[in-house]
Amino acid sequence: MWIFGYGSLIWNPGFPFIQSRPAQIQGWARRLWQGSTDHRGVPGAPGRVATLIKARSASCLGMAYQCAHQELADILKQLDVREKGGYQRIEVDLYFHDGSIADGVTYLAGPNNPDYLGEAPITEIAMQVASAQGPSGLNSDYVRLLADALRSLDADEPHLFEIEKRLSELISEVS
Ligand code: BEZ
Repeated sequence: MWIFGYGSLIWNPGFPFIQSRPAQIQGWARRLWQGSTDHRGVPGAPGRVATLIKARSASCLGMAYQCAHQELADILKQLDVREKGGYQRIEVDLYFHDGSIADGVTYLAGPNNPDYLGEAPITEIAMQVASAQGPSGLNSDYVRLLADALRSLDADEPHLFEIEKRLSELISEVS
């Protein structure tokens, strides 16, 4: 069983692992549609963080982590707490570049959780990201770190890269 990260877990797993490998999950797309009131925003001024949206022909590239069997239960318990803001653990099939497939778990924030924000125009999302911050830091840093991590994986990710570009334009307009 591997742990699959498609958001901050890509650059900040924060748990011990034996190996990490880029992997894809199929039928899912990454979108900044989840509100964050506990990491990259606060109640009343939520940030925007990644969740997974069902999309039949899409796939989402991220990082898979293999943990020691005897540590897995504790690691998942810690992640359940760290990612409690609307996220639920789900099981996924992981597809590796070499064609192999493995069982994985990841976290999903669906449209029925209280912090869900959903779709919005790119400029609106970028403006919200530009102004939000929370206990884990600036929402704009989250978007830049995620975009950098995805570029280093060679991910084709127009949704996030467009938000990153609009965010840079907004920030340079005010400075
Ligand atoms: C992640 O994959 O980085 C992640 C995203 C949302 C919740 C938990 C983990």
